[in-house]
Amino acid sequence: MKMNQFFLGVVAFIALPMVVVQAEAAQPPMKEVKSAKGQVSSANVFNRLLKKEKERNMAPPEDGVHDPDNDNTHVLQPPRIAYDGLPTSDFGNYVDWVKALNDGLIQPRYDRFDPTVEPLVMDLDIVREVKASVPDVVFPHKPHTQWLHCSNCHPKIFIPQRKANVINMSAILLGQKCGVCHGKVSFPITTKSCKKCHSKAKPKDWKPPQSEASLKNPWR
Ligand code: HEC
Ligand code: HEC
Ligand code: HEC
Repeated sequence: MKMNQFFLGVVAFIALPMVVVQAEAAQPPMKEVKSAKGQVSSANVFNRLLKKEKERNMAPPEDGVHDPDNDNTHVLQPPRIAYDGLPTSDFGNYVDWVKALNDGLIQPRYDRFDPTVEPLVMDLDIVREVKASVPDVVFPHKPHTQWLHCSNCHPKIFIPQRKANVINMSAILLGQKCGVCHGKVSFPITTKSCKKCHSKAKPKDWKPPQSEASLKNPWR
């Protein structure tokens, strides 16, 4: 909401009970602010999962993603029916997909055309020590390679070499690095999901890194 719209709203709110008729005549109608469907105009707008939803897992014609005028949208199975019985989580579409896969509740095809192709699973954790006081990030290859071929990430999103990539939250929230998928097709970045990635506690003796200049300056 723009500032002038905000003030217009405040003025309307105060004035309305007193002079309803006058206020209506004197003020131009408030412009309806539509959600930016499919538009990428600023940080996070693309991330439909970050917007507070009216209801969880709405049916395709009401979810704001599918075209309600297309007949086939109404043929799609509503998520609440499709997800019934799957382990739950606190964010995204409220399904713990990693657990659902490990418990054998879903058997996604690794190859769209050949149902016999098995995934190439690699069990390698990459720890990224975070300079800030939040817990360190563990990137687990296993839950990724159970569904995704290496080429989904290497070499275009990440150079396959530990610490060769610059990753930070701004990039992720802008839809780069981990954010190419997280917030779009896999669990989103919400205050409840930080711990999924920031899962390794800092060592007890951890201190925030300081530059040489700040260490030399006794006033800091
Ligand atoms: C979802 C994305 C993703 C997928 C899929 C993925 N990787 Fe990675 N890989 C990463 C990230 C992130 C790193 C860490 C890079 C860093 O620290 O800068 C990494 C690091 C690596 C490294 C470097 C390890 C080291 O110790 O230096 C190798 C090798 C690697 N990946 C191989 C693979 C192979 C082989 C596959 C497929 C079986 C695969 N990766 C699938 C994201 C992925
Ligand atoms: C999808 C995984 C993921 C999620 C979810 C996530 N982070 Fe991060 N975060 C990262 C990665 C990767 C880095 C970069 C680590 C490094 O320095 O190598 C990072 C870095 C950070 C940093 C250091 C500053 C920076 O931007 O690099 C802070 C602070 C941080 N995260 C806070 C949070 C908070 C708070 C949340 C929850 C709202 C959160 N993160 C959720 C992956 C994630
Ligand atoms: C190519 C897409 C893609 C990229 C890039 C990607 N992820 Fe993921 N990630 C997934 C998918 C798909 C899953 C499994 C489904 C889910 O949990 O949403 C997953 C799962 C995870 C999990 C497992 C959560 C659990 O329940 O055990 C963690 C942790 C994670 N990602 C962290 C990261 C971090 C950190 C990065 C960046 C360094 C990253 N991911 C980059 C697609 C991706």
